This record gives sequence, C-alpha cells and structure tokens, in this order.
Amino acid sequence: MSNSPTPSTYADAHRLSITDPDVFWLDAARGIDWTRQPTTAVDSSRPPFYRWFPDGELNTSYNCIDRHIEAGRGDQAAYIYDSAVTGVKETITYSQLLDQVEAFAGALRAEGVGRGDRVVIYMPMIPRAAVAMLACARLGAIHSVVFGGFAAPELAIRIDDARPKVIVTATGGIEPTRRIPYFPMVAKALRLSYASPSAVIVASRAEHFPDEVFPETPGVTWTDWDDAVAVAEPAGPVAVAANDPLYILYTSGTTGMPKGVVRDNGGHAVALAWSMWNVYGVRPGDVWWSASDVGWVVGHSYIVYAPLLVGATSIIYEGKPVGTPDAGAFWRVISEHKAVALFTAPTAVRAVRKEDPEGLEIGKYDLSGMHTLFCAGERLDPETYQWATDKLGKPVVDNWWQTETGWPIASNLRGLDPMTIKAGSPTVAVPGYDLRVLDGEGNELAAGEEGNLVIKLPMAPGTLLGLWEDDERFVSSYMSVFDGYYSTGDGGFIDSDGYVYVMGRTDDVINVAGHRLSTGSMEAVIAKHPAVAEVAVIGVRDELKGQRPVGYVVLKAGEVRDPEQLRSELVTMVREDIGAVATFRDCTVVQGLPKTRSGKILRKTMRQIADGQENVPVPSTIEDPQVLEDLAPFLRQQG
Ligand code: COA
Ligand code: AMP
Repeated sequence: MSNSPTPSTYADAHRLSITDPDVFWLDAARGIDWTRQPTTAVDSSRPPFYRWFPDGELNTSYNCIDRHIEAGRGDQAAYIYDSAVTGVKETITYSQLLDQVEAFAGALRAEGVGRGDRVVIYMPMIPRAAVAMLACARLGAIHSVVFGGFAAPELAIRIDDARPKVIVTATGGIEPTRRIPYFPMVAKALRLSYASPSAVIVASRAEHFPDEVFPETPGVTWTDWDDAVAVAEPAGPVAVAANDPLYILYTSGTTGMPKGVVRDNGGHAVALAWSMWNVYGVRPGDVWWSASDVGWVVGHSYIVYAPLLVGATSIIYEGKPVGTPDAGAFWRVISEHKAVALFTAPTAVRAVRKEDPEGLEIGKYDLSGMHTLFCAGERLDPETYQWATDKLGKPVVDNWWQTETGWPIASNLRGLDPMTIKAGSPTVAVPGYDLRVLDGEGNELAAGEEGNLVIKLPMAPGTLLGLWEDDERFVSSYMSVFDGYYSTGDGGFIDSDGYVYVMGRTDDVINVAGHRLSTGSMEAVIAKHPAVAEVAVIGVRDELKGQRPVGYVVLKAGEVRDPEQLRSELVTMVREDIGAVATFRDCTVVQGLPKTRSGKILRKTMRQIADGQENVPVPSTIEDPQVLEDLAPFLRQQG
C-alpha cells in the first residue's frame, strides 16, 4: 500500500483532478490492491452514468483487512469498541477481525448469499455490524444497512426495494433511557413486506434482553450468529468488478419513498483511502474516531471502511455525546484510546456546549494526541465553530457532503495542504469535484452570489453509481435539473477566495440533529389520520438540533378534534411508522395551507416565515394570499 501524494498544493491537485482525471485518479488508485489493476480511471461513454476504473477488479474486504495483516499489522487494533451505554470495551485486532469476517462471510454463503445478492443489516452500534458489512463485501454481496432509529414500516420499505436474501440483526439497541428490542420490529417488517428473505441471523445481546425469543415468521428461519458461524466454512475474498455495487444506502428524498444510493467497490476504495490521507491527515496506525452511526453514510465511510482502507484503527462508540454519562464522554474516549481526530456532527458539539458551556470537562482529559475536530452532517454554524475552537485550541474543520457523494465535496485538506479556516465555510471544493453555483435558469453565478450548488460531471470516484434499480429517478432527481451537472439539492455560494458556503437545502429534505429526514414521508403518515384533510410538514430552525419538523394540518369538513389529543395521536403515528428519530413533536391545526394555483403547497415560504425572515417574497402564483396571512402568526409562533 502506498499513498501517492499527487501534486503537493491544493490548487495543483484540484486542477489536475479536473483537467486530467485519468492521471490523477490512476495515481490515487495505487493506494489500493487490485486483483486486476485498472488502466482507465473514468469511463464517460454513457453520461450521466459515469463509471470509475472500469477494467479494475478488487475485493474491498481484502483491502480493509487481509493486506494489512500481510504487511505486519495483524496485532494492531482494527476496531476499538467503546460502549458508554453498557460499559463494555473491546479491542479487535486486524487478525481477529479477519477471523470474524471470514467466518461470518461463510455463514452468509451457507444461506446462499453470493456476488450481487443483497443483505439487509439492521443493527445497533456493535462491532458485529461492521463485521456483517465487511462479510458482505468479502462475498461480493451488496449490503443495505438500515439505521436502528427507523421503525418497522421504514425497514419494510427498504426490504421490499432491496429484496435481500438474508437479514442480519441483533437482539436490540440500547438508548440511554430505554432498551429497544429489534425482534418485534424485524418480525413486523417481514409481515409488512412482499419480499421474501429466507433467513434472519441474529447477533445476540441476550445479557441485555433476557426475555427476547425468536419470533415466528412463516418461511423465514431465525439463527443465532454463533450457531450460523459454527457450521460454516470460512470464506475467502471474491474478486469483483470495480463497478459491482458494494452497498445500497437509503436516504431521504422529497417524497416518502427513500432513495437507494448505490456505491461501487473500486471508486469507493480509491476515494476513501485518498481522503483519509489527504482530507483527514490520518496515517496507518493512527487511532481515528467517527462518532456517527453505521446506519448513516458517515458511519459507512468513516467508521467501517476508510480507516481500515489505510490501516488505521477505528473507534466504534455506542453512546451519546451527553448523558452517557456526561458532557465529558467525547473527551474521555479521545484521551483513553489516544485518538488523533474526532469526526462528529455540529449538533453533538452544541449538545456538549449546552451541558458544559465553559468546557470544564475538556480540561479533565489529556487531548494532546488529538490534532483535529472534524464536523459534518449539517452546516457548522460560526458560533459552534468558535466555541469548539476556543475550548479545544485545535483546528475545527467543517466538511460538506451527502449520502450520494459518500465522501466530502468541500473540506479543508488537512493532510495535503491545510488552509486558513473561515467560520461558516467548509473551505474549498475537494479534488475530483468541479463545483459551480447556478441560478434557476442554469447560468453560472459570480463569486459571492447565492444559488444552486452543482457539480459539473463527471463527479469524483466513490460518488453514487445511481439509484437502486431506478435509473429514471436518478436522472430526474440529480442529473436533469441542470444539464451536464449533478444537482446537490443544497443552496449556497463560493466567495472570491474559492471558499464554499452551504446555506441549506433547496428542497423539502430537512436535517434534524444531523439526521436527514423527508418531510414528505412524515406528511404521508399524517395524511392517513381519518380527521386530516391535508398537511404540510416543514423544518423550522432549532437551536440544538439545527432543524425540527413542525406539522400544520387542515381537518376534514365537519371534524372537530381536541388539538392536544390530535397532536398526540399524530406524534404516535409518526413515531410508529417512521421512528423515534423523526423527532416529530409539534403539530398545529390551521384553517388552510398556502398553495400555488396549480396546488403546490408553499413550504419554502412557510419555512422562511417560521424562521423569522423579514420581507419574505410571496410567489406571484399564490392562489389565495389571505390563507398565508392567516397562517403567518402560527408559523412565527412555532419558529
Ligand atoms: N435507535 C433507536 N432510537 C434512536 C436511535 C437509534 N439508533 N438514535 C436515536 N434514537 C431515538 C432517541 O432515543 C430519541 O428518542 P426519544 O424521542 O424517545 O427521546 C429520538 O430517536 C431522537 O433522537 P436524537 O435526535 O438523536 O436526539 P437525542 O436527544 O437522543 O440526542 C444528540 C441528541 C444531538 C446528542 C444526537 O442527536 C446526536 O449525537 N446527533 C449526532 C448525529 C450524527 O452523528 N449524525 C450523523 C452525521 S455525522
Ligand atoms: P446526508 O445525506 O444524510 O449526509 O445529508 C446530506 C445533507 O446534509 C446535505 O445535502 C446538506 O444539506 C447537509 N450537510 C451535510 N454536511 C454539511 C455541511 N458541512 N454544511 C452544510 N450542510 C451539510
């Protein structure tokens, strides 16, 4: 394995990556071990379906594990599991991880899982979640991890779309205030779905869930992980084409149906390894901590895969930034395991600041080995940036990206060419991304002018291949909004120094505590209530969580309901259909919703009023301005 630090300045590296992607990325591809070395970087023959390293072959799990053992890292920790909710701490060396991954890959293979088959993984933050993902990668199978905070119907939607052969789960997840048994949710999801996986394999946490027994699910056998492994032959790495899918990760779009983002093997491995060296400044042997969840893209990329691709150690943390047990949790983990960097969401930093505004907990721990705090998932607001910088006395680096891209679009490249940090900006476009700002008509805007953030095609390697079995939606969602560009769905501007400012979504996707959620899916649930005629859910600004969803419902003619009772029923419905993670708590009954003459609800206008913006422009196509005027006091009150 080698890192090939292309040009040594950011400007040269970025320029080369755009003008000659073959030279740039074939060089970066030397950081990966291939069973067939690629000779071309990007295949642009079928736009907008770009493919990376089209003639390359590799195995991602081999690159994450085996080759480091061959290079003498067998006794180094691959993962450190630190569970603040159970008190368990465990180190898994690269050699131990290989044993576990090849054993579990064997168990999956015994269930008939092979190259191209799907496996849904519904797991809490335990090492076996990562083992299951790597085991799929070993077989050339495609995993689809579903975040544990999603309820059964959301799990069912993903099962139906991915049609897995096997589901891998655990007895349950542990939140600070409650235990969440997974069996009832998996059983319910199986009842709700049409797809027919043949097996569920369970990582036992019986010590925390003594009363849980395997449910009866016709046609589906439930097996304990250890039992499944005991009777299976360990599986070696299967070489796959660079463009074979590694995973599908569902993410929120504007409608209720999530988008199944498909990631490749080759581009993903190259881009992530390159990013560890050049964006995050992480070297083989370093301990790195991404305090996200394996159910999100940050967890996929920077807990499970990227640290292992470069032979580093990755911390798997089961806990929260506060309350497990206190606001010193982050600093304890960093000092105890000697992490060189922490990657978290700004909302987590705000949660820590709220509990410990003076940063007294920080002083209790030795953070001398830590070089950077990285943030992503939502905009790092200047106030939070300033607090963290002052209290930590270390660079606090924002990075902007999305499930679709899989790694940063904009960042400050700490390993390549660290740049001055400007509060409120994730710094510059990362090599591989030709970032532009366009107005609604597709004209390029000048420095400082706010518009749609788009990426000129082709995007960087590691970005989405497409949406699972839905080329049409892929093209209509991202590729045909502006011809020749990928539309990020974010708005913002680039200043005269090339610094990017991401100001928020231009669509109805919201970001609650670093979790990307669809207001459309909440509306779909609320609309099922028998008294509800129509509903709009918008994201309003929230000091701690960035945004929170607020619903406005119009009742059917003749319906009279106690507002508090109705609110509580709707909250329960959203919680049961989408999950606790939706944090849907506020709902108001109103007389009408503002619409255009073609019937489109003016959610953006509603959001702007709720966020307290002055002189909000009202579209000339509004059907009845009086409806908006009547609604405005309610919006201001919620915001
Ligand atoms: N399984 C089951 N339930 C979960 C869950 C999981 N994995 N994660 C969250 N939930 C539940 C919570 O228990 C909570 O339930 P409640 O309504 O009964 O209290 C609800 O979902 C909302 O959770 P959350 O929004 O996370 O609020 P919180 O108060 O538990 O924690 C933060 C607030 C800021 C500490 C937390 O959101 C956080 O650490 N966010 C960072 C997110 C992140 O890392 N995102 C990845 C991008 S980098
Ligand atoms: P997700 O796909 O869950 O990673 O969410 C992606 C969305 O989160 C982006 O489209 C942005 O709206 C937002 N986001 C993520 N990181 C940042 C950031 N650093 N600055 C601003 N917005 C961000």
